[in-house]
Amino acid sequence: MAEIIIRNVAKTYGKTTIMDGVNLTIRNGEFVVILGPSGCGKSTLLRLIAGLEDITDGEIEIGGQIVNQLEPRERGCAMVFQNYALYPHMTVAENIGYALKVAGVAKAERLARIEATAKAVGLADFLDRKPGQLSGGQRQRVAMARAIIREPKVFLFDEPLSNLDAKLRVQMRHEIRRIHNAVGATSVFVTHDQHEGMTLADRLVIMNKGTIEQIGTPEDIYEHPASLYVAGFVGSPAMNILPGSLDATGLSVLLADGQGLDIPSSFKARAGQLVQIGLRPEKLSILPKGHGQLSATFQFFEELGSARIYHLLIEDIPLGVVSEHKLSLTEGETVGIGFPTSALHVFDGPSGRSLDRPGVAERVAELV
Ligand SMILES: Nc1ncnc2c1ncn2[C@@H]1O[C@H](COP(=O)(O)OP(=O)(O)OP(=O)(O)O)[C@@H](O)[C@H]1O
Ligand SMILES: [Mg+2]
Repeated sequence: MAEIIIRNVAKTYGKTTIMDGVNLTIRNGEFVVILGPSGCGKSTLLRLIAGLEDITDGEIEIGGQIVNQLEPRERGCAMVFQNYALYPHMTVAENIGYALKVAGVAKAERLARIEATAKAVGLADFLDRKPGQLSGGQRQRVAMARAIIREPKVFLFDEPLSNLDAKLRVQMRHEIRRIHNAVGATSVFVTHDQHEGMTLADRLVIMNKGTIEQIGTPEDIYEHPASLYVAGFVGSPAMNILPGSLDATGLSVLLADGQGLDIPSSFKARAGQLVQIGLRPEKLSILPKGHGQLSATFQFFEELGSARIYHLLIEDIPLGVVSEHKLSLTEGETVGIGFPTSALHVFDGPSGRSLDRPGVAERVAELV
């Protein structure tokens, strides 16, 4: 078991800074998911923890020890990659036991541990096969087994499920979480798939261009995104964003078509401030014209079977509503839009930072 503390870590390649001022504490036994778009630095962060790359500045501590100067094999981390990186000419048993062989573990003990590990990941019947004779999911299990057998303090997963089909992904997600719980290691899992992140994580870390935007439980991130960037990254369909500006009282937002939307005084908004209103599609209801807080024009809907996505416009700004109600609406019809006050998010226009819940930033700071 090991706590991982990342203090003010920076990484540059030549003159290009790709990561800066990253602070993150991953608790003992915790499952943390790093979520962000391609190129934001997720793999780099994992490789810095593993010691596959040197950090340019800052400090990394694993299990109470500063590891900056330690070789990868001295850090107690096992990494599972997207492409599995199995040895094609070795059998499953040889692949799983390779690290033990290199470490000079005696044959009898090695075989016993290979068998026990293979059993734990459901590979007991495949020990004599070569990787080429396995399905994608089975190969993924070999990669897992190879990591588990080393009894690491820390598991580092770099998009390990992205080569699997949708059904297998869900199954292996569950498997990884089960193994994490059983082994009691600390896990850091990288993905750009928000569903994977939401379902696996104790806490999510949202990255943006080499910095951390927000850290929190999946629920916290969904309910209280700290920025427009986070709001757009978590939730599907994505959060509706309506640009506007505060009126002279600072309590009503003037939207694109001139209609006003009252916001509670708990938001830290100033008179005249440019803002973006955020509303999640699944928190909105379509009401008869004149009801609710907003007025919008119906365009069309998409049938999902269990629900529909209704597409509306406020002036030329799109507004999506997810509802299980089968409404009969005609194109161009004006309807009312209602929502609980708790569904309302307000972001500063230029910076995109949340004006919700004063203190989100402070709470984030407490967690790092
Ligand atoms: N060896 C390197 N030299 C120079 N730049 C690099 C090197 N490795 C990575 N980068 C750059 O660092 C940035 C972060 O890369 P990284 O691989 O960490 O992204 P990622 O979030 O894992 O993306 P993906 O989801 O595509 O895997 C990218 O802009 C990438 O081009
Ligand atoms: Mg990557």
